[in-house]
Amino acid sequence: MKKVIDLISKEVADAFEAAGYESRLGRVTLSNRPDLCEYQCNGAMAGAKEYHKAPFMIADEVAEKLQGNEMFESVESVKPGFLNIKVSRDFVRQYIVKMMHEKKLGVEQPGHAPEFIIDYGGPNVAKPLHVGHLRSAVIGESLKRILRYTGHKVTGDIHMGDWGLQMGLIITELHHQHPELPYFDENHTGPYPKEAPFTISELEKIYPEASGKSKEDEAYKAEAMEATKQLQNGNRGYRALWHHILDVSVTDLKKNYKNLNVDFDLWRGESDVHEVIPGMVEYMKQHGYAHESQGALVVDVAEETDAKEIPPCMILKSDGASLYNTTDLATIQQRMDEFHPDGLVYVVDKRQELYFTQVFRCARKTKLVLPETELHFVGFGTMNGKDGKPFKTRQGGVPRLENLIAEIDEQMYGRIKEGNPEITEEEARKTAHQVALSAIKYGDLSNQPSKDYVFDIEKFTSFEGDTGPYILYTIVRIKSILAKYEQEGKSAKQALLNAPGSDTEKSLMLQLTKFADSVESASRELMPNRICAYIYELSNDFNSFYHETKILTEPDQDKKEGYIALLYITLKVLETGIDLLGFTAPDRM
Ligand code: ARG
Repeated sequence: MKKVIDLISKEVADAFEAAGYESRLGRVTLSNRPDLCEYQCNGAMAGAKEYHKAPFMIADEVAEKLQGNEMFESVESVKPGFLNIKVSRDFVRQYIVKMMHEKKLGVEQPGHAPEFIIDYGGPNVAKPLHVGHLRSAVIGESLKRILRYTGHKVTGDIHMGDWGLQMGLIITELHHQHPELPYFDENHTGPYPKEAPFTISELEKIYPEASGKSKEDEAYKAEAMEATKQLQNGNRGYRALWHHILDVSVTDLKKNYKNLNVDFDLWRGESDVHEVIPGMVEYMKQHGYAHESQGALVVDVAEETDAKEIPPCMILKSDGASLYNTTDLATIQQRMDEFHPDGLVYVVDKRQELYFTQVFRCARKTKLVLPETELHFVGFGTMNGKDGKPFKTRQGGVPRLENLIAEIDEQMYGRIKEGNPEITEEEARKTAHQVALSAIKYGDLSNQPSKDYVFDIEKFTSFEGDTGPYILYTIVRIKSILAKYEQEGKSAKQALLNAPGSDTEKSLMLQLTKFADSVESASRELMPNRICAYIYELSNDFNSFYHETKILTEPDQDKKEGYIALLYITLKVLETGIDLLGFTAPDRM
């Protein structure tokens, strides 16, 4: 669907041409003086030099040509030569009616759906999720929804850290604690037990213990490295144990991500490319991409234009072991072979930016990807506490995500109960969680991903201001009016929209016409904050309209129906917006 701004630009460009000027001067922008007009055109200013004419004379002539045009309520030429434009009320009405009949509320859909894979979440098996994993999950989930809405075919992959030294550490610690287990008996030939020899909470205690010991005890560390190697080389007992670790851990991860309203199409991990690595390394050697440097195998990725040094990408360590880089490159190869994607998007802490520069360059240089394959790194900033340092619990530790959410749920539960004494326990719990998620997710997504932000839960949970709960509150307000209207036996869905009467009504409607712009720019720039900014403004516009308009008590039935239609559409746009951000609204709160 053509954008309002483009439709206006076309008319104004034609008018420039009709007045004897070049049509390119007719480009229109949003007004920077919303008190005076809605759109403006500065083309006469630009044209003055070329045509050796005072700008206001050009503007006058163009404005003249636009008089009587049904698209405009007014086009004024103001000194020194601007065109101030207001669109006609019926044009706005027609545009919105059309938008409601379009697929995806008028958001542009490509002819052929580009295929993308988003790598997000990135938890490490056997370690609890902590707040550091929150941003990747929240931003990645939103980007997945935004890209889908803008016509991409998207596969979300969690890319778990499930291989490497951390697994060797756990196996070593288990060996020390339970040497009697059959997994450690080299002579064991039969099947291994079906049940894991630990629960998730036991497992989560094992890792920090092992990691602590390995830092102090060289021999212990060597043992863990040996266990890692044996696991990777296929030691039967270790593999069986590793499967238990994975099962127990993934069950818990699934529960946690579900609670966050985040889901993945693929639950793959670093281990899934273990078999891809030898072939890839061989390929890199044979084509002369990789060479030996101080015993290690590396690919040079520096470029002449680099302002700072970009070190080579290491493929194998001097002892022949693979690294984080190796698994990421092998994963790229696997994704290309299996899905032939047009693009890969990584949602990872921005401190890994240099690392991803190396990996992307290496993938291009070694032709693991096509020249036209898009590789995007969406690096996110740190979630800080009010003191400006990385967020900590009151006790000073890194908080578990589960506990953090439970705490906010509990606070919201109290507030919901207080405001709605008659609410059932079940609805109160469900609503509290919806509000909590809106607070956490909106608090995160309303910032540009690359920026650090302060996790200020008091601010995030406020029902006023630029917050998730404020957006939900606005939605709930609309739902409640529509429910009352329907109690009168009428259908809100079938209500007919009128051209706007008051200025606040017109502002609200103009804001509705801009929905597609916000979603398309969020998709193009991989920035969900564009949608937050849009729905916040839309909520403000709605609330201004609401505060000065009698809706249900409006005696003129035609006018009332028009208001209801406007509410219905506003609700639809707001609900779509929050769905793209990854949260939902209750019926009351
Ligand atoms: N597991 C990693 C970590 O906790 C994040 C993985 C990011 N994704 C990737 N493809 N490297 O740091």
